[in-house]
Amino acid sequence: MAQDPNAPETLPTDEELGRAGLELTVDGPVARLTISRPERRNAMTGRTWAAMARIGRTLPEDVRVVVLAGKGDIFSAGIDLKMFTPEGVDGERSIVAGLADGSADEADLDSYIAELQEGFTWLRRPDLVTVAAVRSHAIGAAFQLALSCDLRILADDAKFCMKEPALGLVPDLTGTKPLVDIVGVHRATEICLTARRVEAEEARELGLATLVVPADELEGAVSDAVSALLEVDADAATATKALLQGAPDHTLEEQSAAERKAQIGRLTALARAMAAQS
Ligand code: CAA
Repeated sequence: MAQDPNAPETLPTDEELGRAGLELTVDGPVARLTISRPERRNAMTGRTWAAMARIGRTLPEDVRVVVLAGKGDIFSAGIDLKMFTPEGVDGERSIVAGLADGSADEADLDSYIAELQEGFTWLRRPDLVTVAAVRSHAIGAAFQLALSCDLRILADDAKFCMKEPALGLVPDLTGTKPLVDIVGVHRATEICLTARRVEAEEARELGLATLVVPADELEGAVSDAVSALLEVDADAATATKALLQGAPDHTLEEQSAAERKAQIGRLTALARAMAAQS
């Protein structure tokens, strides 16, 4: 049966999630998104990121926290390297097809990469707090995915690697900005241009890891963080995250004005709630 083009978009079905190498559970305010292609070390494809973008667009409104993890004993080996072969990954377009002979359309590739990036950008939404739970490797696109999250909780065996330059590429899945924001341009240059591994303890020292815990305590540490995040008023959390996100681009005066505006919004909402109760 033909799909109604006006029907509202819905969360991917389990079958669609499976084909994208993802698992998703939504339990009230908490969504858990698991990268699940253990036979490929949870390597991700264009379909993975398209499904993630769709999840971002269709999550129930009451979801406040998203936990991202990898199935089994690894976060993810990054992009599925088959994406760079002329034949591509089963049923998906190859990223390089047509580039060698000039028959590929540059604008088309630009919009394709923009679509892939949408799988990462929604994780910054102020109404969500996103938590990456990382064990073992987070390579390339997987490091960029962790960088797209608000919190990165690492098992002590975790390691980040920005592998792209070593493959003749650049990191293009929205990770360069948060990396520079966190570690500064000089350290980011060193990490990217050596493509070396940044182990968990160093990641903590650099501010790349919010917390490092023994590997067998990762799930407990993530649950504790989720509980703490849910304790805070949802609207105050959204307003505060938006305020913090704006800070780096503002002067002190602009940020002070933004604080006043946000606070007036909060005070008005609180006063109205109190009046409605009395
Ligand atoms: N793409 C496709 N298949 C992958 C893969 C990847 N990124 N990573 C691992 N696999 C496959 C392997 O080919 C292997 O398949 P077979 O069993 O059929 O041989 C299987 O997964 C197991 O892999 P290993 O035996 O290598 O597992 P390991 O535990 O010894 O090592 C690893 C794990 C360190 C992650 C290693 O597999 C590895 O280095 N993988 C490649 C990482 C990589 O270069 N990723 C791309 C980074 S760049 C990016 O993500 C963004 C971009 O745009 C370029």
